[in-house]
Amino acid sequence: MPKPTIPALQPDHIRELQARYERALADNGYDSLLIASGAAPYRYRDDQAYVFQGFGPFLHWTGLAGQEHSWLLIRPGQTPVLWLYQPVDFWHANPELAEEPWQQVIEVRSRQQTSAPALEECGKLAVMGDPLVLEGVPGDHNPAALVAAVEETRVLKTPYEIECLAHANQIALAGHAAAREAFLAGESEFGINLAYQQATGQREAEAPYHSIIGLNEHAGTLHYQYYEVTPPGKPRSLLIDAGVRYRGYCSDITRTTAGVDDPKFAALVHGLDALQVRLCNMVAPGVDYVDIHRKAHQGIAALLSSSGLVSGLADDAIVERGITRVFFPHGIGHFLGIQVHDVAGKPTPAPADAPFLRLTRRLEEGMVVTIEPGLYFIPSLLEPLLSGADAQYVDTALLDELKGCGGIRIEDNVVVTATGARNLTRER
Ligand code: GLY
Ligand code: MN
Ligand code: MN
Repeated sequence: MPKPTIPALQPDHIRELQARYERALADNGYDSLLIASGAAPYRYRDDQAYVFQGFGPFLHWTGLAGQEHSWLLIRPGQTPVLWLYQPVDFWHANPELAEEPWQQVIEVRSRQQTSAPALEECGKLAVMGDPLVLEGVPGDHNPAALVAAVEETRVLKTPYEIECLAHANQIALAGHAAAREAFLAGESEFGINLAYQQATGQREAEAPYHSIIGLNEHAGTLHYQYYEVTPPGKPRSLLIDAGVRYRGYCSDITRTTAGVDDPKFAALVHGLDALQVRLCNMVAPGVDYVDIHRKAHQGIAALLSSSGLVSGLADDAIVERGITRVFFPHGIGHFLGIQVHDVAGKPTPAPADAPFLRLTRRLEEGMVVTIEPGLYFIPSLLEPLLSGADAQYVDTALLDELKGCGGIRIEDNVVVTATGARNLTRER
């Protein structure tokens, strides 16, 4: 039998959401829920608005990321109703709505007004969305327990969601290949960004997050946010962390490429890539995600030793003395879905040895996570190490040689399956 197309999978996804939401509403004593898509606020004393990306729960049902001022009503045992804002407007266009199977399971009504629709016979009503658009709307606004229950419905992805994430990976991978070619051809950060956008066919405003494109030292700023227009004299490294949004779902992929004559840095990239693959292979139901984070630290200690950056200490001691945290200061990853750092990852706080970890749960079939170890040369983190007692273990000459490469991160998007993992980023 041919594989169903992605749109053909969406009605079952919506039926599953209906069941999950009915439980969340019943558990929290509500009869109905109105969800606002949201709207981009205007800048202070300006007639220009911020970039709009829709509210997570609205996208969870509809995937319509660009649809402002729209409302979705969920009631137990009834077809959801979607009021789409489609004004007659000679300044702006309305987003085109392709005819798709989801419209057989959600009733769509067109609307001219931005305000919430008037509702009848909804019983005890909750309303969820950006508080900026909820002013004056009847019902309980964003009740905390219901918001938490609704966020929990996003933890286990349906088959439809997994295929959306897989497709978002395929599009982004074409962008990463183009970015790498542009780097090897000597392009600037700006030029590499253009190559990525061209290959993915995605505007910056639609991307799930601002693409991080760092050459040389810039690769060592974790969320580097600028694009130099001129290429560096000697391109030594490219770190690109960039994704794509497809039907609301995000990919979040990082690749690092060494310049042509940097064999020591290239060896480190190769070593981190091998470690990242081993970490991806740990993903399976029942595994504690925090253990993958800790395994990453052990692997980075081994890499620091084998490269000669740190010597005279056993790998365990390199971790225990906090040296790996100087080189790998962030968490091993997070949930991925409608938001790049998807919700409900931390029912318990991050442990003291991993303060920036965004996911502290035991893995279950249907979760989608990123696995993104890094190894960076960050001056503000290196300084205390190099001025302290542990400086004796560090090869400062080698560090000086590598510092100009900034750092390395390798990041894939991985689904927890019944028996192990499906790595969406290494499927081509
Ligand atoms: N792109 C941000 C992150 O990897 O978490
Ligand atoms: Mn990530
Ligand atoms: Mn990323």
